[in-house]
Amino acid sequence: MNTKKKSSFSGSLGFVLAAAGSAVGVGNIWRFPYLAAKDGGGLFILIYIALVFTFGFTLLVTDVAIGRRTKTNALQAFGVIHPKWKFLGYITFLVPAMIMTYYSVIGGWIAKYLFTYLTMNGQEAAQDGYFTSFITSKAAPIVFMLLFLAVTAFVVYSGVEKGIERFARIVMPGLFLLIIGIAVYSLTLRVEDGNGSVRTGLQGLVVYLIPNFDGVTPSRFLEILLDAMSQIFFSLSVSMGIMITYGSYVKKEVNLGRSLGQIEFFDTFVALLAGLMIIPAVYVFFGTEGMASGPSLMFISLPKVFAEMGAFGMIIGLVFFLMVLFATLTSSVSILETLVANCMDIFHTTRKKTSLVIGVVSAASSVVICMGYNVLYFELTLPNGQTAQLLDVMDYISNSFLMPFISLLTCIFVGWVIKPKWICDEMEASGHKFGRKKLYIVMIRYVVPVMMAVLFLQSAGVFTMLKSLLR
Ligand code: PFF
Repeated sequence: MNTKKKSSFSGSLGFVLAAAGSAVGVGNIWRFPYLAAKDGGGLFILIYIALVFTFGFTLLVTDVAIGRRTKTNALQAFGVIHPKWKFLGYITFLVPAMIMTYYSVIGGWIAKYLFTYLTMNGQEAAQDGYFTSFITSKAAPIVFMLLFLAVTAFVVYSGVEKGIERFARIVMPGLFLLIIGIAVYSLTLRVEDGNGSVRTGLQGLVVYLIPNFDGVTPSRFLEILLDAMSQIFFSLSVSMGIMITYGSYVKKEVNLGRSLGQIEFFDTFVALLAGLMIIPAVYVFFGTEGMASGPSLMFISLPKVFAEMGAFGMIIGLVFFLMVLFATLTSSVSILETLVANCMDIFHTTRKKTSLVIGVVSAASSVVICMGYNVLYFELTLPNGQTAQLLDVMDYISNSFLMPFISLLTCIFVGWVIKPKWICDEMEASGHKFGRKKLYIVMIRYVVPVMMAVLFLQSAGVFTMLKSLLR
């Protein structure tokens, strides 16, 4: 085990902010509101909240406790606990390595849109074809990606307390204020269309919050459940080594149970606020059909919404992209930090040198991903039926395929090989009570592995295949 002095967060608040910074990202902003709108509004929200505090909690506790108890990163942690399970560390390391290649490309897109609004060109961003012509151009996406990556690498280069923690302390409260500001504005919107019918932000709020049970059959319910589940573990940044690394920086005296509760709460609260900000705004201008997911929500639909708001919309657009940039930066810092920390463990190199080398390698791989929209363009149909380019393929393999697989193996490892007590002891190491302990034990041994197996089969397209065979 590592005996040299470890870096650490200054205390519980620094850890909570940095981990919440990792958790809150584009997932909260472009995926949660879309899923809520698609999956029955309040119905999805209720299921999501119930799952965060049971299933999400279990995965978060597991990662952070492994990190704090072993004081090392995923690559070594599993091997330190049980030599036969070292392979799980290797698979876990693959996820941030894959995500890093495309996360800074998306970060670059956000930086470009912020720049567009800053230079008063927000109306242009609302034109048809603006997004496509930007991402397919040769130089601009690379330039903005490099800028985004340079800021990320600088924060990681500056260290855990002086870089990551300090950055999160400044950026997270800012993000929070901005998102509340836009959500409030969004609720006050009121628009009259050509036929004299009026749509208000508050009506949009009703669409968002009231549970809608229309057409909810058992198989549809399962679909909503799986949507919520896959959203949760992407959103909490679990099963990818990130929370193991951040856990290894938490001091022994910190009350882990309480801190993790705060992270779950914060991540969910921001997701709910993102819905509050986006759904009423899209609803007022484009009705319920206007909701889209992923890049097209953020880079195509929302600029149109901002343009409809007139001059004030340009300011809202600016504030919005600034807020998203904050959210994305703290997430990309956590991915790069995980790669750097793992490599420092293996190669025994300094933080500064490792950050530079990994920064350059990431830049090179992100250039290849940028080229996936021009020189290396292809169209591939994924097992879930979506048409994918290079970026989507990396996203699919890491999030839909590897993450449920890693969670499944981790549950088997903790639940049945080393036994939950190993984790519970760490949760109680500071002398604090581990609330939800019984829940944790049942979840990690029985419930989560089964849920993960189902999610994995679904993501791998097995259910779709079976359905078409039985038809
Ligand atoms: N948890 C982040 C979100 O919800 O957007 C996304 C994320 C961060 C994914 C870090 C992956 C990652 F490595």
